[in-house]
Amino acid sequence: MTGPWWREAVTYEIYLRSYVDGTGDGLGDLPGVRSRLDHPRGLGVDAVWLTPFYPSPDHDCGYDVLDHRAVDARFGTLVDVDGLIVEAHAVGLRVVVDLVLNHVSAGHPWFRAARAAGPGSAERLRFHVRSGRGPAGERPPTNWPSIFGGPAWSPFGDGEWYLHLFDAQQPDLRHDHPEVAADAEATLRFWLDRGVGGVRFDAAGSLVKEDGYPDLPDGWRPGEAAPYSDRDGVHAIYRRWARVLAEYPGDRLGVAETWGGPEVIAPYLRPDELGQAFAMDPLFWPLEAATWRAGVDALLAATLRHGRLPTWVHGSHDVRRAATRWGADGSRAVLLLMLALPGSVYLYAGDELGLPEVDLPDDAIRDPVFRRSGGVDRGRDGARVPVPWTDGSPPHGFAAPGVAPWLPQPTGWGGYAVDRQAVDPTSTLALTRAALRLRTGRWRGRPAQLCWLDGPDEVLAFQRGSDGPVCLANLGDAPVDWRRYGERVLLASVSLADGWLPPCATAWLC
Ligand code: NOJ
Repeated sequence: MTGPWWREAVTYEIYLRSYVDGTGDGLGDLPGVRSRLDHPRGLGVDAVWLTPFYPSPDHDCGYDVLDHRAVDARFGTLVDVDGLIVEAHAVGLRVVVDLVLNHVSAGHPWFRAARAAGPGSAERLRFHVRSGRGPAGERPPTNWPSIFGGPAWSPFGDGEWYLHLFDAQQPDLRHDHPEVAADAEATLRFWLDRGVGGVRFDAAGSLVKEDGYPDLPDGWRPGEAAPYSDRDGVHAIYRRWARVLAEYPGDRLGVAETWGGPEVIAPYLRPDELGQAFAMDPLFWPLEAATWRAGVDALLAATLRHGRLPTWVHGSHDVRRAATRWGADGSRAVLLLMLALPGSVYLYAGDELGLPEVDLPDDAIRDPVFRRSGGVDRGRDGARVPVPWTDGSPPHGFAAPGVAPWLPQPTGWGGYAVDRQAVDPTSTLALTRAALRLRTGRWRGRPAQLCWLDGPDEVLAFQRGSDGPVCLANLGDAPVDWRRYGERVLLASVSLADGWLPPCATAWLC
């Protein structure tokens, strides 16, 4: 293997509150993760990414942080973090932590001070604060929408408004304020000093807003360029933080939570910026060969320009479960496709079990998206239901018997349990383990250049370089004769009874 450890790493996203409850309160926590490190280890991933465990009033499931350099007692202690890092290293895993530096909780001392100090005060300079429009300042300063629905500005009630790209409980910070910049760097160093292998920068593209806060043009739609996303100025911040990362030994990773297309992502990957930037577009690609072929080529070309590789995201706590988005077979097919492509891969805990999206009752939903959209968008909790470890009865090993998980597990959840799939060679868990094992010897470290092989339009077939294994994905309606592409099947996302690869399936051949 050449290059830093993360160049073609597979990282397992542990959505902390849904992984294992080690303390009996129905919420997953750090002791829980420590008790089940054998799982990611057995999968064969390189790193685990832990979602936030910092003190938080939980208006956005921990992404509203009160103190970035502390651990919420509900999740454990700093001693647990240190212990987890040591234990993870002992089994060959790195730990990646989630840094939420774009905003703080409205309960953070800085924001409480800003609210109290009143209009025009120095305390408000740490936030994006503007006078409202209209004679009495009764209207928001711009027409910017919150990503969670509703306006992105809320009034202080004294004529001034503050910006929150997410929930009103998550005011955005001004990174051009020296104290904000110094505090962010202190946070970064705090976790690097403790030995984390990398950091994920939450809402990476949002840290800088355009001067003058221009309105969005009429007809603007989410996903289009906006004065608060991916501005040139954010890159100066990442260059600074990259220098901090580089001061530490061991190729510490900075990964940007980006949501743009190839040309938006690429600048984050310049040699003096970050090692990884999420490619989220593929999450929403339909299973059509032309879309994937063109999309993969564009991402590869844009990242290779800077000597980097794409970071494929198979699923996360922010989108619908892969098995529901692409269907159960589709999710398995995409997994094998992504694992064969050049680059790193993020695998969301539970997707290796094929967990489907859960339709939760209204009164169980915690995601602020549900409330802020007036119930139109049911939010992201359906992808966050606690993991089933044992078939048995609820809470299926997630917590001690009799403890109610923070989100209810649906009937039949035990059918997806780890203990059940572990003994079933056709399970999604068995496939994931086999794929990760094979990937190391067969795909990892091979040339980044894709050689697309000829075949029917609805088939994706490639090698990396001009030799090596073939990845064959059948995204059409008819079975494909895999013997055209190789002599032997190394692994397939479905059982292959004969020489035919059925629709919605991927095979690795040699
Ligand atoms: C991205 C996180 O993944 C998401 O869960 C959160 O709501 C927003 N950033 C705001 O921090």
